[in-house]
Amino acid sequence: MDHQNSDLWQRFQQYYTEYPSIGLALDLSRMNLSAAFLAAMAPKLEVAFKAMVELEAGSIANPDENRMVGHYWLRNPSLAPTPEIRKEIEEMVAGITSFAKDIHTGRIVGQNGAFKNLLVIGIGGSALGPQFVSRALGHPRKDRLKVNFIDNTDPDGIDGVLAELEGQLGRTLCVVISKSGSTKETRNGMIEVNSAYKSADLDFSKHCVAITGAGSALDDHAKQSNWLCRFPMWDWVGGRTSELSAVGLLPAALQGIDIQSLIAGAKACDALTRQAVVSANPAAQIALAIYESGNGKGEKNMVVLPYKDRLELFSKYLQQLIMESLGKERNLSNLVVNQGLSVFGNKGATDQHSYIQQLRDGINNFFAVFIEVLKDRDGDSLFVEPEITSGDYLSGFFLGTRKALHENGRSSITITIKELSPFTIGVLIALFERVVGLYAQLIGVNAYHQPGVEAGKKAAADVIVFQRKILQFLSGAKGCEHSAIEIATHIGAINQVESVFKICNHLAANPDRRVNKSTGSSAFDARYSLLA
Ligand code: PA5
Repeated sequence: MDHQNSDLWQRFQQYYTEYPSIGLALDLSRMNLSAAFLAAMAPKLEVAFKAMVELEAGSIANPDENRMVGHYWLRNPSLAPTPEIRKEIEEMVAGITSFAKDIHTGRIVGQNGAFKNLLVIGIGGSALGPQFVSRALGHPRKDRLKVNFIDNTDPDGIDGVLAELEGQLGRTLCVVISKSGSTKETRNGMIEVNSAYKSADLDFSKHCVAITGAGSALDDHAKQSNWLCRFPMWDWVGGRTSELSAVGLLPAALQGIDIQSLIAGAKACDALTRQAVVSANPAAQIALAIYESGNGKGEKNMVVLPYKDRLELFSKYLQQLIMESLGKERNLSNLVVNQGLSVFGNKGATDQHSYIQQLRDGINNFFAVFIEVLKDRDGDSLFVEPEITSGDYLSGFFLGTRKALHENGRSSITITIKELSPFTIGVLIALFERVVGLYAQLIGVNAYHQPGVEAGKKAAADVIVFQRKILQFLSGAKGCEHSAIEIATHIGAINQVESVFKICNHLAANPDRRVNKSTGSSAFDARYSLLA
């Protein structure tokens, strides 16, 4: 062993830890942690641990929204701060189990027979978790229902999903998920799907379930329309930490995934990562490694590289969990900090033929999070070369890339799990929820609100109101042509000409909106009219 390799082996032994209770190993040897850094961070971490204890005990850990933060109670209801909350959680899980059984056994059927498909409509925290788990644990030959998602208000995307389900809507169960019950993307998806059922001469309400907050617009609608069932979402569960609430559990149970094991994995991980001892707590170690790498300011991006196709949505899921939680303008003392941690990724080895070139040789502004899954597949593998399988290659590409990055001074964390199962997926979800909780405490931000998301929702609503004004003006002068600047002047919005320009071009590109565009001498002189 040469000098460099023997040093690395020493470091590996120092920073590699196996956690048998959750079937996971963590290797931080390729990060820059040191005894001095860990000692310097100890007081901050102690405060973070204390804050997590208070959070789990039901403190108002989301002060901006004056809410408790209770996703940890979902996998261990005995920790809930009140007997009522405990009961609600237990009833939710029991209700999901019995509803899924009724669907699988054909006790509840669609208008054309037993349900064969599941269509989940939701967005953000009401879609990413269910999508990740469905992809990670589903199997085309074993799934009880075939799952589709509508997670956007893109008409073409909706058409694509409806085309997949053509002729099968009468055997498709729709689950509409929205905590607030008022998210427009989700509402639009629901309206479009409802219309498809109508066109097929089917009653949407006989195929529909809602997961939403009590008393929300969606809840009222589902109640009035006599939907099959309604499951709760509580204000103490955030969208991006809702995978182990009805939001994630119902779609998973309907697909045929073992939700008890999913919950058990998260519960076991919570038990481990609740410990206020850094060496015994993988979440604390990851939080510290992230802090060190980006100076507690997110100066390095996190590139998630699972070497497993089934985990390809994990990067997307983590992107929301981390960026929506940590990406904050102000800290808990209301000072402007513009915090965050940028996350991207997809999967190895595929990404080695894509952006990994830059990771290895280009700008060194990241650390990688490798996820290694030891078990290759169910059943035996064939040899693609003497004594070598495809899985050996996948493992070889992972080890090779990690080595190449390290040799070029690029940091990485490696998380190893023996196999993909509902238990280990529950572990991964809980692990990163805790990483986010602890890291947010270290940097002093509220991880549980999302003012930027709310601002985006409001800004879009303002655009829609503005578009109505434009259409109203054009319809009062049918057939008459106006430039963007003229329209803006007429509707008293001269400082919003660009918005008029963009909105009119969108309308004119869609013939059914009946807005005609006549080109002018430049793009900005185009004239718009509403066809008579
Ligand atoms: O994590 C979040 O809070 C958001 O991403 C929400 O989940 C997303 O905006 C959807 O909101 P809702 O579930 O209210 O429709």
